Amino acid sequence: MAEFLIVYHSRTGASHQAAEAAAEAARTHLPCTLLRADQAAPEDLLAHDGYLFVAPENLASLSGLMKEFFDRCYYPLLGRIEGRPYAQVICAGSDGHGAARQLARIATGWRLREVQAPLILRTEAQSPERILAPKQLPPDHLARATELGAALGAGLEMGVF
Ligand SMILES: Cc1cc2nc3c(=O)[nH]c(=O)nc-3n(C[C@H](O)[C@H](O)[C@H](O)COP(=O)(O)O)c2cc1C
Repeated sequence: MAEFLIVYHSRTGASHQAAEAAAEAARTHLPCTLLRADQAAPEDLLAHDGYLFVAPENLASLSGLMKEFFDRCYYPLLGRIEGRPYAQVICAGSDGHGAARQLARIATGWRLREVQAPLILRTEAQSPERILAPKQLPPDHLARATELGAALGAGLEMGVF
């Protein structure tokens, strides 16, 4: 049976909640491992058949810890995971496109196949206080993460990717 991996980083909780929601939905279809970016190693990606990457946008880029995961794993995996399906969720205050573009370029380098458009969840936090505050994703955001996890799980289970 195919196995699915979700790698995430979250500073204030939103991306973690999205990753958990996607994992719970994916597990209705197939085994799904959820790993924090600092715990994920190249062997974890090799051992799974498809990926969901979930991270916040920080300063118009991927959060530092998520970028560190890609920096650490990029060359050990180059040429070894080509063609595997992936998708991404970016949590952002008001934008998210910079991080999504950056992640897509990394995935293109690995020759992964994007099977769903990036899901950008905006918390609309603008002031320093709101940006730094712990986040609780609203039900519609959680539902979109759930839908994405279910779609990825079903696609991988049926072998359509
Ligand atoms: C240092 C820092 C930089 C940020 N930069 C951006 C940004 O460039 N664009 C944006 O839309 N949101 C930005 N945000 C807001 C976060 O992306 C947003 O709060 C997101 O929901 C955080 O996800 P998390 O709770 O998983 O950490 C920034 C937040 C922090 C702490």
